[in-house]
Amino acid sequence: MQAKDLLYECDSVSFVYPDGTPALKEVSFRVWREERIAILGVNGSGKSTLLRLLDGLLEPTGGEIRFLGTPLTERNLQDAVFGRKFRQRVGFVFQDADAQLFNATVWDEVAFAPRQLGMSESEVQRRVTDTLNLLGIAHLAERAPFRLSGGEKRKVAIACVLSMNPEVLLMDEPVAGLDPRMQNWLVNTLRLLHEAGKTLLIATHNLHVLPEFAERVLILSEKHQLIADLSVNDALANESLLIEAGLLHEHPHAHGDIVHTHLHAHEHHHEE
Ligand SMILES: Nc1ncnc2c1ncn2[C@@H]1O[C@H](COP(=O)(O)OP(=O)(O)OP(=O)(O)O)[C@@H](O)[C@H]1O
Ligand SMILES: [Mg+2]
Repeated sequence: MQAKDLLYECDSVSFVYPDGTPALKEVSFRVWREERIAILGVNGSGKSTLLRLLDGLLEPTGGEIRFLGTPLTERNLQDAVFGRKFRQRVGFVFQDADAQLFNATVWDEVAFAPRQLGMSESEVQRRVTDTLNLLGIAHLAERAPFRLSGGEKRKVAIACVLSMNPEVLLMDEPVAGLDPRMQNWLVNTLRLLHEAGKTLLIATHNLHVLPEFAERVLILSEKHQLIADLSVNDALANESLLIEAGLLHEHPHAHGDIVHTHLHAHEHHHEE
């Protein structure tokens, strides 16, 4: 790898929320251009916090994150040149679409970032139309985002990021709430984005789609530490690690009068 392909450097990054809640502890890793990385960990382990830090929405309370060599600090992000470069290159799909959507119509929502980046109105029109068509939501253009269904909101949130055409995509649980057809569409779209040279960092609990959109896995522990940084294949072969990541769980079953445990992927629901 060449130095120019190094996108992110996280050096001993810690984060404590203002109310004193710890969310990340001394996490270090690097991200190279065109990598596809899944961020795994149980609820509350710090996945969303890590993505917010990588998007510059939060600043580490300890350690440092550098993007293309420049520390991601509020001050640097306010710098016109670096801030603009960063915003153009990095797109973030939030876990909670309600926190991301704030415009009066879906059209304005998807047009927001391209307009912010100073694109001409004809370019904005073209991008919004293309993106809405790509996601099959052109019919929602004049609707108010906050009155959409959960899955529709998620599609709009994804459209907002795709319309910017960023080089790095940060996605927080992107398939959650999507119907199977849309999940399949998203997984295919992520593959095409990868083939187009994008870098993907995706927080997920979905074991089944994992090998389809990641080669590398970062696992955060309940104590907010990075406990594994390995290939997807090595992660999938390591049952105890998957249990620790909250992707598998042991579940007692009664068969006749014999009770034993099976391992289950998380999204399977059990008849209790
Ligand atoms: N705004 C906040 N203020 C205080 N604590 C917070 C805030 N947001 C998150 N936390 C806490 O920080 C820790 C990490 O939360 P985070 O949302 O990053 O976890 P997560 O891995 O994304 O979880 P999930 O799988 O449920 O989405 C948790 O203990 C959480 O309660
Ligand atoms: Mg989260």
